[in-house]
Amino acid sequence: MTPAQNRAPKVSSVLLCLCCIHAFFSCAVRLVAGQTSKPVFACDVDSDPSLAGFGFCNASLGVEVRVADLVQRLTLQEKVGFLVNNAGNVDRLGIPKYEWWSEALHGVSYLGPGTKFSSLVPGATSFPQVILTAASFNATLFETIGKVVSTEARAMHNVGLAGLTFWSPNVNIFRDPRWGRGQETPGEDPLLSSKYASSYVRGLQQSDDGNTDRLKVAACCKHYTAYDIDNWKGVDRYHFNAVVTQQDLDDTFQPPFKSCVLDGNVASVMCSYNQVNGKPTCADPDLLAGIVRGKWKLNGYIVSDCDSVDVFYNTQHYTKTPEEAAAKAILAGLDLDCGPFLGQHTEAAVKGGLLNESAIDKAISNNFATLMRLGFFDGDPRKQLYGKLGPDDVCTPSNQELAREAARQGIVLLKNTAGSLPLSSTAIKSLAVIGPNANVMKTMIGNYEGTPCKYVTPLQGLAAVVSTTYVAGCVDVGCGTAQTDDAKKVAASADATVLVMGADQSIERENFDRIDLNLPGQQSLLVSEVANVSKGPVILVIMSGGGMDVSFAKDNDKITSILWVGYPGEAGGAAMADVIFGDHNPSGRLPMTWYPQSYADAVPMTNMNMRPDPATGYPGRTYRFYTGPTVYLFGDGLSYSNFSHSLVQVPQLVSVPLEEGHVCRSSACESLEATGEMCSNLALDVHLNVKNVGRFSGSHTVFLFSSPPSVHRAPRKHLLGFEKVFLASQGEAQVQFKVDVCKDLSVVDELGRRKVALGTHVLHVGDLKHALSVQIGSSGLSLSPPRHF
Ligand SMILES: *[C@@H]1O[C@H](CO)[C@@H](O)[C@H](O)[C@H]1NC(C)=O
Ligand SMILES: *[C@@H]1O[C@H](CO)[C@@H](O)[C@H](O)[C@H]1NC(C)=O
Ligand SMILES: *[C@@H]1O[C@H](CO)[C@@H](O)[C@H](O)[C@H]1NC(C)=O
Ligand SMILES: *[C@@H]1O[C@H](CO)[C@@H](O)[C@H](O)[C@H]1NC(C)=O
Ligand SMILES: *[C@@H]1O[C@H](CO)[C@@H](O)[C@H](O)[C@H]1NC(C)=O
Repeated sequence: MTPAQNRAPKVSSVLLCLCCIHAFFSCAVRLVAGQTSKPVFACDVDSDPSLAGFGFCNASLGVEVRVADLVQRLTLQEKVGFLVNNAGNVDRLGIPKYEWWSEALHGVSYLGPGTKFSSLVPGATSFPQVILTAASFNATLFETIGKVVSTEARAMHNVGLAGLTFWSPNVNIFRDPRWGRGQETPGEDPLLSSKYASSYVRGLQQSDDGNTDRLKVAACCKHYTAYDIDNWKGVDRYHFNAVVTQQDLDDTFQPPFKSCVLDGNVASVMCSYNQVNGKPTCADPDLLAGIVRGKWKLNGYIVSDCDSVDVFYNTQHYTKTPEEAAAKAILAGLDLDCGPFLGQHTEAAVKGGLLNESAIDKAISNNFATLMRLGFFDGDPRKQLYGKLGPDDVCTPSNQELAREAARQGIVLLKNTAGSLPLSSTAIKSLAVIGPNANVMKTMIGNYEGTPCKYVTPLQGLAAVVSTTYVAGCVDVGCGTAQTDDAKKVAASADATVLVMGADQSIERENFDRIDLNLPGQQSLLVSEVANVSKGPVILVIMSGGGMDVSFAKDNDKITSILWVGYPGEAGGAAMADVIFGDHNPSGRLPMTWYPQSYADAVPMTNMNMRPDPATGYPGRTYRFYTGPTVYLFGDGLSYSNFSHSLVQVPQLVSVPLEEGHVCRSSACESLEATGEMCSNLALDVHLNVKNVGRFSGSHTVFLFSSPPSVHRAPRKHLLGFEKVFLASQGEAQVQFKVDVCKDLSVVDELGRRKVALGTHVLHVGDLKHALSVQIGSSGLSLSPPRHF
């Protein structure tokens, strides 16, 4: 989705217009209704008892029966009104208008006309931008945040301020560091993104009464698929054709969506603007009806990104007529159009014989079924499960504390010269706080934001602990000309210096990708000059979504610590101070590779290939394939403590049983199709011990990586699992990973088939390496004796 002013020009006039009407309408409502707002819902039997006679209003019937009852009551024209986000009303059936478009990427957002703030609910808890939450590598946290967000959303719904259908999360792979929307995603790794997707979605959707058929709110995984260019050197998402190999599609781009549907049971998937291999995703029957609906069995609706259908007709010229575009989208499996296009052209498509009415029935049935599961057709929500929630349940102290906790858990310590951090709040009497991001508010919440409950800026967070002197040093984050004099003066006399630099939405945003990975403008000059004269330790804080080339700072001994804080949310400044002064021991790890500027200079953003190509010198992407120079690695992140790992029990050999006639019984094979009987129950335990050998208690993420045998252009290394544990100083814990042979020791081959790679898989945990051999033989595992390294 995109704010109306950023749209392609043709599209914008229509949508801007919609927005005007909407704004006018909501204004009028507020004038009339004042402080009391009523939720939007159908089947209001209290006001109109005759509605109780309709089968679709009868909550004791099954969803399917109710949906069928409703659909058969509608005229074609009415049906078409339910194909668009700004869905029509049918007064004779007691159905009001419903706005499908709401957002809740990291808190209830005002983007999307379905949700707004008012004097009744002036703000909602604004969690860190997703890329920082992902850095916590804590799946419990992902789900807990989702739960709080959906509670606040329900509370706002009850007073007419929010919808029930939220088009979040964004689970596209952060393939290229320049992507303006990388900040919205959980990073570059398919496993982390999959876990984030399923956990956040569960948090949003899971019904408090345990009924798996019911939805607290409906989430949506977007943007399906291979969407990760917004606007780079004139290549924009509305025109871009992502040329993607079957192998990359299946082992990089699709996994988060698959997990979102299969593990998270998400209620919606959104198709993107771009084409994949020459077809617009919203018109591709293989991607939608075939995979999402067919293979993954989505229980819910497929929605287009806003104006995607219009875009593939008007911008991509994919069909000759608008009716054809409407028919193609619906026949491909699209159920709901964000934008007016299907509302305008679908009836003509039916009349022209391009589409049967039954296809529309199917689409709107998916939409209605979702609303039924949300209780929209059960009458007044204030009398239902979440009926007691209201404005007092938004921005509660515990919700706001979770926003601070999430930022703390995500913040990544990238460099820490001995004796630098944590600062002592008693020894440090004066702190110089410098930089264009040192006293920012809105920057902290990134994009797809809502109005937060309140802000704690970095300066406020630090000033709450010690006496500070603040100098911005640049007029804005672009830092055209650094003003170094005052900054140097305060740094020269303060006991320690904190520089808060980085980016904001003027540097990286939707519709705007970066060219440059360096700190903007003269920021690095300011940092170097200040560091050069600083009296005490110098802590460089990078506030950004994407990685930055901060090699100059990494290599500068005067800069004693580097922290990355993402866009840390409403309580970001408090969380930063917690980490800097040691009230919280940092445990975040980078969810994406930080590349040097030379990478951006050499690699076109438009090359979708994940794998390197030695013939052209193309270096490949992400820690799974790229082996060139980096600034920081995926998974990097220090603690104030040290943690040691030891293997307790890990098999050395896994034998994979084969049926009698299998060709690999008689000939040499490098891999086996990961399907069927062979896969049932073939799992092994990796049993580890982890110990906090440092002075500080803290959390630590244990990563289990594997380097598979080099068959089928397999990744050089990939993440099999992660587990975060809290350990007191000198404390120990056992961590166990269940490794499923077919799922985890397999690779995707050149044709997209999952294969168990035969040969040696090297497991990595921290600095430990363990060779695990996968062979054909009678089923079994041979265990290594317990070993300590
Ligand atoms: C709702 O459906 C149930 C089950 O079919 C039926 O017994 C009941 O009479 C219906 N309620 C109304 C108000 O029609
Ligand atoms: C419409 O339905 C008829 C009868 O089932 C079928 O033969 C025809 O192919 C359908 N048309 C379209 C455009 O799907
Ligand atoms: C650092 O300071 C020294 C002298 O104090 C000066 O020669 C040098 O140019 C300075 N470097 C930077 C990057 O400001
Ligand atoms: C952790 O261990 C490394 C290697 O032994 C050492 O250099 C470092 O100082 C230790 N860090 C902490 C915080 O104890
Ligand atoms: C993970 O997050 C949850 C929710 O905030 C928190 O209670 C838990 O302590 C975290 N786990 C670790 C190991 O830090």
